[in-house]
Amino acid sequence: MMRTALVAGALLLGAGAVMAQQDVAVTQQNLMKSAGKSMYGVLGKTLKGETPYDQAAIDTALKDLAADIAKAPAVFTPNPKEDVVNANYGSSQKIWQNKADFDAKVPPATKAIEDSSGKIKDAATLKVAFDSIQSKCSGCHDDYRVKLK
Ligand code: HEC
Repeated sequence: MMRTALVAGALLLGAGAVMAQQDVAVTQQNLMKSAGKSMYGVLGKTLKGETPYDQAAIDTALKDLAADIAKAPAVFTPNPKEDVVNANYGSSQKIWQNKADFDAKVPPATKAIEDSSGKIKDAATLKVAFDSIQSKCSGCHDDYRVKLK
């Protein structure tokens, strides 16, 4: 009886730990999805002509993007040790072996976003800004993002 209770307790604890790790992975992924919304959903779609040019939307997207990316070092501090279930992308375990290097990828991205704010006036200047920001996103993704499918 006692033993059954102990086993059941251990199973519950185990399930709790798995849930918590999944929550961490989901929180990290949601931060990046939010960045993706500003970058590809607003800036990228405007570039492709899928959305009409809207200066206010572009300025807001840049602000949101800067705020999201600045959160990455803190949000990626815990290691979930697992991928989001059924996700397209995951985090490399290298992040937590080289956390200082991972964190160091953030200021160049933030700087590219800040340098672009106020400079985007039309499709041509949007293209320049998009490419310069994108190269800094890739600077981290190339090392620390894993394509799962
Ligand atoms: C400091 C490192 C770092 C920087 C800088 C960074 N990312 Fe990420 N990004 C990651 C990691 C790690 C993942 C994988 C996490 C995941 O998807 O679960 C990721 C995943 C993504 C994804 C895929 C989300 C999904 O659907 O799973 C998008 C979209 C994304 N990032 C957008 C951006 C954009 C846009 C920028 C630049 C403005 C950027 N990221 C900058 C680390 C970074």
